[in-house]
Amino acid sequence: MSSALECHNTRKTFCVRKEMNEGSILSRVINRLVPKYKIVPAVEGLTFHVEPGEIFGILGPNGSGKSTLIRLISTLLLPDEGSITVFGHDVVKDRLEVRKLINRVSVDAAFFKGLSAMENLSYAARLYGLDKDVWPGMASDILSRLGLEREKLHEPLEDLSRGMQQKVAVARALLTDPLLLLLDEPTTGLDPVSKREVQDFILEEREQRGTTVVLTTHDMYEAERLCDRVAIIDHGRFVALDTPENLKLKVSGNGENVTLEEVFFVLTGKELKYNGKSECVSE
Ligand SMILES: Nc1ncnc2c1ncn2[C@@H]1O[C@H](COP(=O)(O)OP(=O)(O)OP(=O)(O)O)[C@@H](O)[C@H]1O
Ligand SMILES: [Mg+2]
Repeated sequence: MSSALECHNTRKTFCVRKEMNEGSILSRVINRLVPKYKIVPAVEGLTFHVEPGEIFGILGPNGSGKSTLIRLISTLLLPDEGSITVFGHDVVKDRLEVRKLINRVSVDAAFFKGLSAMENLSYAARLYGLDKDVWPGMASDILSRLGLEREKLHEPLEDLSRGMQQKVAVARALLTDPLLLLLDEPTTGLDPVSKREVQDFILEEREQRGTTVVLTTHDMYEAERLCDRVAIIDHGRFVALDTPENLKLKVSGNGENVTLEEVFFVLTGKELKYNGKSECVSE
């Protein structure tokens, strides 16, 4: 069976305007009138694969390229170089086929905020051509497993907390029964209970349906709890890729007990400094 996801030497750059805050007034005015641009690499030389049914985590500092990679896999961006395939389908050549197999939850999911959760889900269900006799049951089942109270389902989304809205976003992504679920910081901003509910749900989905999951997170405990393997990305490149256990072993060398957080600090080039209470902080 082919991999759920394969990336070969994937590269994506963005062309951004060069801001000039220094120099003479004349040169700054000229820069405003005739702006200069620079190329910013967002992801570079990424080669990896994800097995069917695997939960694959991507950890990295802000701006390291996590969301760009998720957007490349979900066909929202085109790679400059390299290839990405989802269950054997190329994200550029077989874009529509890939879209049938995946769904994505982003950290800032877009909704019609004046409409309720069920109305938003109804819109998504129609867009995907889902059976109207089937999806409402599926939706309420998913939302109750995620811990969203029934009475919230018919309130305008703008009256729901960010965490509740995030649960609706997860439910929307699951309605299409994706083979590959792309989760970009699915639990950021959630309280500990909601976080655990979403995490349990992700584990259950994999268990029950064999869903392959690629998730980005800043939460090391989440990565450790959920992920079979974790890639650490920095400045658009993977600096490590292994199981959480092996990553910890590699960093500690002698099997000494280290946390994934310490691994992250070491591999992203930041120094570790202990504050005397066995807590580590980055510099
Ligand atoms: N649409 C865009 N236009 C220009 N530059 C972009 C665009 N999207 C991302 N970038 C740049 O690409 C790099 C990677 O950004 P990306 O959003 O992928 O990082 P991230 O790891 O998801 O960060 P965060 O943890 O803050 O979500 C950054 O330098 C960012 O400024
Ligand atoms: Mg991001």
